[in-house]
Amino acid sequence: MSTPDEVPAFPFPDDGRLAIPEQFADLRARCPVQRVELPFGGQGWLVSRHADVKAVLGDPRFSRAATVDADVPRTTPWRTQAGNLMAMDPPEHTRTRRLVAPVFSRRGAERLRPRTEEIVGELIAGLRRAGGPVDFVEAFAMPLPVTVICELLGVPADRWHLFRDFSEKVFGDASGSAEEAERAAAELDTFLAGLVAQRRAEPRDDLLSEMVAARDADGARLSEEELVTLGVTILVSGHETTAAAVGNYVYTLLTQGLWRDLAARPEQLDTALEELLRAVPIGGAETMPRMATEDVTVAGTVVREGEAVFPVMLSANFDESVFAEPDKLDLHRSPNPHLAFGFGPHVCLGAQLALMELRVALGRLLAEFPTLRLAVDEADVPWRTGSMVRGPRRLMVTW
Ligand code: HEM
Repeated sequence: MSTPDEVPAFPFPDDGRLAIPEQFADLRARCPVQRVELPFGGQGWLVSRHADVKAVLGDPRFSRAATVDADVPRTTPWRTQAGNLMAMDPPEHTRTRRLVAPVFSRRGAERLRPRTEEIVGELIAGLRRAGGPVDFVEAFAMPLPVTVICELLGVPADRWHLFRDFSEKVFGDASGSAEEAERAAAELDTFLAGLVAQRRAEPRDDLLSEMVAARDADGARLSEEELVTLGVTILVSGHETTAAAVGNYVYTLLTQGLWRDLAARPEQLDTALEELLRAVPIGGAETMPRMATEDVTVAGTVVREGEAVFPVMLSANFDESVFAEPDKLDLHRSPNPHLAFGFGPHVCLGAQLALMELRVALGRLLAEFPTLRLAVDEADVPWRTGSMVRGPRRLMVTW
């Protein structure tokens, strides 16, 4: 496929809310593998169609490990740090992921359901005590996944400001420099390293203790540093995304007049949730780059060894050859082969946990507050800006 001479800058500007940049539809139709200029590290290839995005994500010739500490084309100033799951290739990736996979399986997530129901119940009681109008982000969307992931990992919930601070600097409102982000990351590492030492001395019934035990049973499986990094990864990825999903889905259902309908049909929730995952973005289109380890042809374009590829899941989820009327939020859509959780070896580790939390949270909210509504004009909702995670900064609701 030939590409136009012009090399557009990526990421494309978005409206700062939940709209999908219109360039993707054009690229899917005209140039499914497009050369783009990244803000850091030069040029790469943008892959926009569902089938090609899946093919790239599942192809071992595209490496994440090759991005470690390298000045590769990327959307953020900082370079990929070693030790993170997202920075590994098989077999190292497989070995590390296997260690925590059972906890994050469907069955593992189901084990956490009773406690999640309790937490949701407590948060709903809090909403009722506060009475409307109340900021839904602060009172529900953020504390839910934070509490769940802290309890799962065994991190005292009162220390969550530490990783909120880290997330704000890394995913936050673009206020932070790369140095600030690195400092926040170092603080969080120190904190987790302290907890690991505590669990080694005094194991408890939590994931961190399990990880320490697995590491100590077979030191070759996971280095101490990897153990800490894995803990940090789970902690950070375990709350920002789910919090944004809860907030963005409630916002979307309310502003599109779908809340009451769904409240009246609870049996439709699972199908509706898949559609929300497909069509309502949580992050931008800033996929992490993959480096070609040899020449690979993608949709007719040769990606040369050493070049970077950006498979855009957000675009794949709107591919009109897979989803009829992709711009329509159709809560009955089925089947729904969206790529909101990615695909291939790096498919979201926490997908089952996130799904369980979202089902419990939305299910209870719809049942308890069928008359939920925004307490401010839609135009007055403040949005996070320049952030890797999209969503309202504050969402005042009442009922
Ligand atoms: C609605 C919520 C969530 C969404 C939409 C989401 C989405 C994603 C996506 C798209 C990827 C793949 C990225 C890529 O290949 O470039 C990913 C990976 C990952 N996610 Fe999630 N995620 C969510 C919740 C969670 C939760 C609750 C956890 C908790 C542990 C989590 C942990 C991870 C980890 C560790 C990875 C890297 C996996 C690996 O490299 O093997 N995510 N997520």
